[in-house]
Amino acid sequence: MTEQSPALQNLLTENRTFPPDADFSAQANAKADMYDKADSDREAFWAEQAERLHWDTKWTQVVDWSNAPFAKWFVGGKLNVAYNCVDRHVEAGFGDQVAIHWVGEPGDTRDITYAELKDEVCRAANALLSLGVRPHDRVAIQLQMIPEAIFAMLACARIGAMHSVVFGGFSPTALRSRVDDAEAKIVITSDGQYRRGKAAPMKANVDEALEGAESVEKVIVVRRTGDDVPWKEDRDLWWHELTGAQSTEHKPEAFDSEHPLYILYTSGTTGKPKGILHTSGGYLTQVAYTHQNVFDHKPGEDVYWCTADIGWVTGHSYIVYGPLANRATQVVYEGTPNTPHEGRHWEIIQQHKVSIYYTAPTLIRTFMKWGDEIPAKYDLSSLRVLGSVGEPINPEAWVWYREHIGGGRTPVVDTWWQTETGGIMISPLPGVTATKPGSAQRPLPGISAKVVDDSGNEVPHGGGGYLVLDKPWPSMLRGVWGDDERFKETYWSRFSSQGYYFAGDGAKYDNDGDIWLLGRVDDVMNVSGHRISTTEVESALVSHPTVAEAAVVGASDPTTGQGIVAFVILRGSAADGGEQAVQELRNHVAKEIGPIAKPRQIMMVPELPKTRSGKIMRRLLRDVAENRQVGDVTTLADSSVMELISAGLKSGK
Ligand code: WTA
Repeated sequence: MTEQSPALQNLLTENRTFPPDADFSAQANAKADMYDKADSDREAFWAEQAERLHWDTKWTQVVDWSNAPFAKWFVGGKLNVAYNCVDRHVEAGFGDQVAIHWVGEPGDTRDITYAELKDEVCRAANALLSLGVRPHDRVAIQLQMIPEAIFAMLACARIGAMHSVVFGGFSPTALRSRVDDAEAKIVITSDGQYRRGKAAPMKANVDEALEGAESVEKVIVVRRTGDDVPWKEDRDLWWHELTGAQSTEHKPEAFDSEHPLYILYTSGTTGKPKGILHTSGGYLTQVAYTHQNVFDHKPGEDVYWCTADIGWVTGHSYIVYGPLANRATQVVYEGTPNTPHEGRHWEIIQQHKVSIYYTAPTLIRTFMKWGDEIPAKYDLSSLRVLGSVGEPINPEAWVWYREHIGGGRTPVVDTWWQTETGGIMISPLPGVTATKPGSAQRPLPGISAKVVDDSGNEVPHGGGGYLVLDKPWPSMLRGVWGDDERFKETYWSRFSSQGYYFAGDGAKYDNDGDIWLLGRVDDVMNVSGHRISTTEVESALVSHPTVAEAAVVGASDPTTGQGIVAFVILRGSAADGGEQAVQELRNHVAKEIGPIAKPRQIMMVPELPKTRSGKIMRRLLRDVAENRQVGDVTTLADSSVMELISAGLKSGK
């Protein structure tokens, strides 16, 4: 269990609650009776939620759990996900409503209405079809936050192909392993991206990644920076030429409710990322339901902004699928929050009158660091709901968010969920819940979660343990791409006798039975809300010729939640290390995985603490990394190792 996570520490000091405002409650989408309604008949509740979608063929069964843990939702139903996110709004007369207020980092902008979105998605769908993409084929997308990323995802959904979006910051090696694992036929990328005021190449990285990649037939390149790019005549196509030549008409086909929608890779406890598989009907139902209720979203009135990147699940569920299914008008911003100045987000909120803002604790803490006076310069009075996701939010950041961004008025919803859950699972409901800074509080109506002990028994109020999900939910992952065994082993074996889904998070109940998330209990780190496995970074380190052995831990960090700290044993000939060696290793990891995985700190050590069976005791290394008294060493094969490490670090070796 994470020792004294910030959330737990603050739990002891911050115990205010914020009851909902009566005016807000009166107009809120969510109603208090939803909990009882869902409890009394879960299937009827979800059936009602699914009615918010357009089904070409209605389902015959709400959920089929007979082959657990492989779920089927809305069995027999048929729908087209892209039609639900785009066409039906145009058909209902909202073609002129802006779907996306896109804001480019250099200051260029583009407003895209639902009618225009439909044309763009149809063109892209026709383009993919012209290249021979068929239902179930995989299309990898590595793009920054530009509208084409959304067009491409919806185009895949429209023709029943699966997208696999790879975060733009991932290295060629990381992209390649994902392309290979998914056997992607098409890769969509851009010439380059704007990052902190400068154009950085994208296509060059993709070319490096795809050297000899057998599955890839075509690479489609969006022109963004206009920089020269290397070109492979028989493989590469410009997005604007390819889609520009296509018709804006495309008749959407209805696919089975369980038709695969996408794969999204995420870090697990082993070095190899897992391709999390999501399907259509249940997924879209849950993301639409949660987006409407958790954010109190009102189509045609609200301006919504989720600051995530589409490379992560938050971008999939709460930029693309949930909001568009709900006919949202949303801001999509290409750049970093401090380009060209630290008030960029607040400027955008003021300009577009953003009313719902959804971001991550790490960014909130960064805003705090930049200073209260920055948001104070802008008119943020349009905001009415604030959301948080990605890691436990410390109460101090929660209260700052409400005060300095929400003007002391807005509900703050701390939403717990995962790539695997597809949609929000635990969160307050604005207008219903009296919120508590730092707590995600209760499973949403229709969702069931428990905190259990080692044997799977629910702990009493006030107790802590592991978070489990004890009943299937519509947007649950349907598996790990190509690896059913790993799916069962990772999520369902820990509490197999109870049939619980093991989330990998520690949690506790307070005395009211509200849930507080305490961080990961496995070897997954959470750095700025990004999941990175310790094993992945260790593999990157040992792939460097000077490294004999490496152990990596996540140490608590005031801004990023956790920071990556690596303990490295160098090979004999390179044993001296020094600052230059440290820098080289940090860069090596960035090159192997991506800059987000760059260790904050690397310590050269003579030995690593191991148990008699050879397992590295990361707990002890975490003690060192967090400057704590080293804990119990009795299970170490050689109990003097920790002294050796500490002594070496003190003497600077
Ligand atoms: C963590 C992001 C506490 C958690 C949507 C989870 C959170 C992992 C919260 C999933 C929250 C996410 N409070 N912890 N509100 N939200 N987490 O797959 O450890 O990128 O298991 O999905 O982030 O990260 P993922």
